[in-house]
Order: sequence, then C-alpha cells, then structure tokens
Amino acid sequence: MNRTERLTVALDERRYDILVGEDLVAQAGRHLRPLAEGRRVMIVSDETVAGLHLGALERALADARIDARAFVVPAGEASKDFATLQHLCERLLEAGIDRGTLLLAFGGGVVGDLTGFAAAILLRGIDFVQVPTTLLAQVDSSVGGKTGIDTPQGKNLVGAFHQPRLVLADTGILASLPRREMLAGYAEVVKYGLLGDAGFFHWLEGHGHSLVEGEPNALRHAVLTACRAKAAVVAADERETGQRALLNLGHTFAHALEAECGYGDDLLHGEAVAIGMTLAFELSAQLGLCPAEDADRVRRHLAAVDLPTGFERLGGRAWSAGRLIEHMRRDKKASGGQPAFVLARRIGEAFVSRDVAEADLVSLLTEAIAQTAPPLDLAGA
Ligand code: GLY
Repeated sequence: MNRTERLTVALDERRYDILVGEDLVAQAGRHLRPLAEGRRVMIVSDETVAGLHLGALERALADARIDARAFVVPAGEASKDFATLQHLCERLLEAGIDRGTLLLAFGGGVVGDLTGFAAAILLRGIDFVQVPTTLLAQVDSSVGGKTGIDTPQGKNLVGAFHQPRLVLADTGILASLPRREMLAGYAEVVKYGLLGDAGFFHWLEGHGHSLVEGEPNALRHAVLTACRAKAAVVAADERETGQRALLNLGHTFAHALEAECGYGDDLLHGEAVAIGMTLAFELSAQLGLCPAEDADRVRRHLAAVDLPTGFERLGGRAWSAGRLIEHMRRDKKASGGQPAFVLARRIGEAFVSRDVAEADLVSLLTEAIAQTAPPLDLAGA
C-alpha cells in the first residue's frame, strides 16, 4: 500500500495540509509546485540528513523545475542557538532572499525549529515548508508552528509561532533513522494515546514493537493518527491557551531531566518524555486521580519497547529532587514559580493541573531516584 493521505490544519487563512506517504521526498516537486511556482526555494538541512537524502530532494525539485539552493548546518541540538541562527540568516540574506522566497526545513526537530524561526523573523516573516525526517518531527514538532532556539537559560525560550505552509511527512525516509531516534520519536507517538485516545494506546500495545522496527504500515498508521490528533488540537488552540497544553504530557518532568543532563546525547528529548510520562501517570496515581493499574500499564509498555521509564539508565549522576523541582519552577509553562503538570484520570484522559503540592513532588521524585541506587551487596557483607 502506498497511498498519500492529506490532512488539514484548519487555521482559516493560515490553513495548511500535512501529507503523509511513503515516498514524498521523491515526489516533493509535484507537491511543492503549486506553492513554489515562480519562487526561489532555500533548503535548510543538517549534515547527517544532507549526506543521506539531500541529493534525492534536489533531484525531485529540479525535475519539477523548482529553483532550489541548500544551506547545511551542523547536526545536533547545539545548532538551535543564536550563533547558528545568525549565521543562517546572514547567509540567506547574502543569497538575496526576498519576501517571496520559500524556506524548506529538511531534517528533524532542530532543523525544523531553527528554519521555522528564521522564516518567522527574516524580512519580518516569509513562508516555509516542513519536510520532517525523524519520527519525532513527523508526529510532533513539524506541525503546529512552534519555532525557536535554545539559550543557556533553557530550551525553546526564544521563538515565535509561525505556521508552515505545507508539511510533507515521508514515512519511507524513517527507514534510515537510527533505532535510538526511532524510539525517542515513539515516545511522542505514545503521548497521543495517553492524553486523549485510549484505543490508540491499546493499538500501540499490540503494534509498538513492529512500529519501532520500522514496519511501514504500522509507521504510517501511527504518523497519520498522531498528525490528525495534533492538527485538531492546533486548529482549536493555536497559541496554547487551553487544550494544546495537553501536548505537554510528561514535558515538565522531561525538561527538568534534560536541563540536568545538558541537552546532549546522554538523554534525548523523547527519552526524557518517556520518563516524564511515566512519572506523570505515577503522580496521578499517587494523588488518587488515576488507577494505579493504568500507571503500571504505561510503564510496562514504554519499558517493553525499550524506552527508559525512570532514572535507572541515567546513572552516574547525583540526582536531587530539589534541583529537579527548581528546574520545573523555571519552566516557561510555570506561572509565578508554580509548574504546570499534565495529569491523567485514566489512559486517554489527561488534564492540566497547576496545584500539585511540592511535598507530593518531593515524595514522587525521591522514590524514583531511590530506585536508581545499586542493590546492597548483602552476600559480600
Ligand atoms: N510539542 C507541543 C506542541 O506543539 O504544542
């Protein structure tokens, strides 16, 4: 089966389509032509994606007589910074972009966020298209118009809402994704089941393994389901004044863990989200809001596909509940130092809470951290 499905993010004059299919990079010329007619296209990619796939994209655009030029940034989260943004903007300006130029973000979340932000600020705003190449970017960051960069004070603290004009999610390209990246993206897939679609979570319990192994039909179904859910949420609440906040399930914990781990390879964002979602369900169970059985089911499923669910795999660090809570207080979703949490009544039913007591957080985190301690060597005592 190799159909291309079209979803729409219904945002009035800024509405746009998300295409999900298996060889959309090869067909990019055809899909971009109506938008790119008479315009120059500037592709922004990173070294890894460019090495693997830029040739195919450039050929597809050339075949459709689309005038395109590529700009390549170093791979990795470090490129989401002011220095890379400045360099990229200056190179694009030197290349003579005008208000009609179309930027094309070809990569994972880093490239998408950086390119989208450059598009938001260059010439006071130009159009851009997302061609996400990671599972995480396909199911989350490429849709919804959140763009931005990191600063030493935290992730995504400088940015803008700027919606893309089109998203091409080529699920075939995920075959080249390293397993760890696939798993990290899978955490964001699971998120949609946990926050609002118990049936999808149940489907993932049955198909998650084949999905992370790259089975095309499972991948396609998951990307479509996730994008459909995200498109509906973004259309209803573009600026996150209400239900869009549910997409942050697990993220208050995740951002604190990432801040402690330094945003590098020690802990990928999706891995942090897997731990964060487990903790969010455990907190919900601890507060008597959600059956303990649901929290166990979440942990079991994430662990079964080999995602981290606690601090065990983040050894070698002196974790401190107090320090993690400090990060949470500084999170950009916090208000007056009170962090926001997405909690659950059950799998598939999440809500936002701003009144989790510090004592409850301390006991949750202290217990989770205690489980990382190596077992006592009683035999040798
Ligand atoms: N990644 C969360 C959102 O787009 O709102």
